[in-house]
Amino acid sequence: MSEKIAVIGTGYVGLVSGTCFADVGHQVVCVDRDAAKIERLKQAIMPIYEPGLDELVDKNMKAGRLTFTTSIGDAVRQSDIVIIAVGTPAMENGDVDMSQVKAAVIEVAENLNGYKIIINKSTVPVGTAKLSEELIREHRKEEHPFDIVSTPEFLREGTAVYDTFHLDRIVIGADNPEAAERVKQMHEPFQAPVLITNRESSELIKYASNSFLAAKISFINEMSNVCEKVGADVTMVAQGMGMDKRIGKSFLNAGIGYGGFCLPKDTKAQLKIAENVDYDFKIMRAVIDVNQQQRELFVEKIERVLGGSVAGKKIAALGLTFKPDTDDMRDAPSIDVIHALQEKGADVRAFDPVAAGHVDKLFPGMPTYTDPYQAIEGADAAVIITEWAQVKELDLNRVKALLTQPVIIDGRNQFVPEQMRELGFVYVSVGRP
Ligand code: UDX
Repeated sequence: MSEKIAVIGTGYVGLVSGTCFADVGHQVVCVDRDAAKIERLKQAIMPIYEPGLDELVDKNMKAGRLTFTTSIGDAVRQSDIVIIAVGTPAMENGDVDMSQVKAAVIEVAENLNGYKIIINKSTVPVGTAKLSEELIREHRKEEHPFDIVSTPEFLREGTAVYDTFHLDRIVIGADNPEAAERVKQMHEPFQAPVLITNRESSELIKYASNSFLAAKISFINEMSNVCEKVGADVTMVAQGMGMDKRIGKSFLNAGIGYGGFCLPKDTKAQLKIAENVDYDFKIMRAVIDVNQQQRELFVEKIERVLGGSVAGKKIAALGLTFKPDTDDMRDAPSIDVIHALQEKGADVRAFDPVAAGHVDKLFPGMPTYTDPYQAIEGADAAVIITEWAQVKELDLNRVKALLTQPVIIDGRNQFVPEQMRELGFVYVSVGRP
């Protein structure tokens, strides 16, 4: 059955899920307050760099299933299902900033013109469904019934479209079984396993999942630090661990830690959620500390390899975004690493295929190239921060010829140490002999 859906917020979650709902046959209107953004979207110009998204938006607009507007009121009134996908950034004190969610819920309430299911897809603390319910009762102008449902979003940046069509699970948190069933039907074309639960559990599943992924990364990063001291190879340790199905092989790549918008924010929020109910979530605290420490240890490693100091050294930083295939610089490890190197007197230049737009603000005056060889030319060392395809595919003989000395410090374990030594490099990576 085709549903009439309004999606409030055209960030990652809203834009991708709205477009994918349109692609499977629903009638979708996406709303954003930002008029310039909506104008560009109407011409299929994307506000984010996400492979495959522009074609999908264009295709579904042409098919008449996807439209864009700046009016929440219009969108809500013409829809039966309203998805809230606005931002929930962290505040200074670690609490989640709920102002955009609350504002959206109130606008939905003011425009309630019949029964509606209001789905929350933003990552929100436990209790938000209940709070939304109260807000709607308080602000609705007409006494229409409604249901608040929680369906957290698990997509990754850079593979968001692929992820939406290959979901591991759809979590539906609802108090009313009929609403849960209708939301399940709406997701049927995605053919993913469905878990129906209460709203509080659903809200917590999102934080629990991201926190656990972050814990896997911090675990393997600590393991890599032990490996370096005992002469073991962390990639082999991870491979051996991952062959146990109970552990699984993903998210066991040691390196310089996680960045991005979700894992850093959600781990801190999870800690705060526990703190707010007087529970000290010790593992979470360690996961966050280890992630920060991993960036610092990497800078120390660069100093060590360069003879104890980076002062006056020309360093080529390869990759700036928090991971490849995204232009997102939020909490990217490159920020801490490059700032530390600069403070210690290094002369840093960088390669990144898409992050140039962020450089002036984050690293004023730092020369940045979209060609890795330009960044490498004349540098005293190359430092791998993000495993872009252009980095993996580097012509290493050319790199050796361009550097003043053949030194590569690899924060993402992209090359085989033995081969690098055979090529004549001083090659130091993470957790490998
Ligand atoms: C994450 C979750 O994966 C996704 O389910 C959720 O909806 C949003 O948050 P995303 O932030 O796009 O997605 O990035 P992800 O691919 O998970 O990577 C996060 C960070 O962890 C990156 O900085 C990456 O480099 C790092 N990482 C990942 C590692 O250091 N090691 C690994 O083994 C995996």
